[in-house]
Amino acid sequence: MPISIKSATDIEKMRIAGRLAAELLDYITPFVQPGVTTGELDKLCHDYMVDVQHSIPAPLNYAPPGHTPYPRSICTSVNQQICHGVPSEKQLKNGDIINIDVTVIKDGWHGDSSRMFYVGTVAPHAKRLCEITYQAMWHGIKMVRAGVLLGDIGHSIQKFAEAQGYSVVREFCGHGIGREFHEEPQVLHYGRPGTGLQLASGMIFTIEPMINAGRRDIRQLGDGWTIVTKDRSLSAQWEHTVLVTDDGYEIMTVSPGTPAPPPFVGGAG
Ligand code: MF3
Ligand code: CO
Ligand code: CO
Repeated sequence: MPISIKSATDIEKMRIAGRLAAELLDYITPFVQPGVTTGELDKLCHDYMVDVQHSIPAPLNYAPPGHTPYPRSICTSVNQQICHGVPSEKQLKNGDIINIDVTVIKDGWHGDSSRMFYVGTVAPHAKRLCEITYQAMWHGIKMVRAGVLLGDIGHSIQKFAEAQGYSVVREFCGHGIGREFHEEPQVLHYGRPGTGLQLASGMIFTIEPMINAGRRDIRQLGDGWTIVTKDRSLSAQWEHTVLVTDDGYEIMTVSPGTPAPPPFVGGAG
């Protein structure tokens, strides 16, 4: 499939799906506390999508080639878990960091976003990883504009994260998104300037860097989904769904609770 260019009406649908994904993250925020299980967070999100938003949880039964169907409605990746953590009966404990990644389908269109959450009181080194990862995502987003190359975006993220002493996960990347969950192009979070696909107005893709406190190597758990750091170091991730425009970008996944961009990002778009 070639890279789809979204029309004005497509973009309006993507704004709605994106807003619902962000609002779902707003909704779940107060429930992220010591003692809650990730399975309970999954059930709350599932019911909010289905009963309140009248949206569909895209992860549920999602089965890309080589995978068993994903058994839950959201991904919950705790501490050394990088991504695709499967909600379970395990309780969150004071000091944990957790990524909650949600994807909703509304009217046939996908909105995909994730944020990091602190469980109770979190150690400064873990907070720093979450904050730097947020800034890494924004170093990528702020580059987005028609005419820019994907390698420039990946390089910007990588250069920033590595300068902080962290590593960038390479096996997973951002992705085009629209009527499909994962569309072309692949949006790598590392790269070389002056290389890669040239962005055009109307493309929509995610930027979702996974940054490890230690080495970049990964391991998959026996559940066939959960990805962890091989060295068991902490990992963080943030994700937005972003539209390319002639003069910059527009974030699709915005809601009242969306964290503000970091100070180094100028005015919107
Ligand atoms: N939401 C993830 C992403 O950002 C994909 C999760 S696939 C699942 O691309 F099956 F694990 F849910
Ligand atoms: Co994504
Ligand atoms: Co996601």
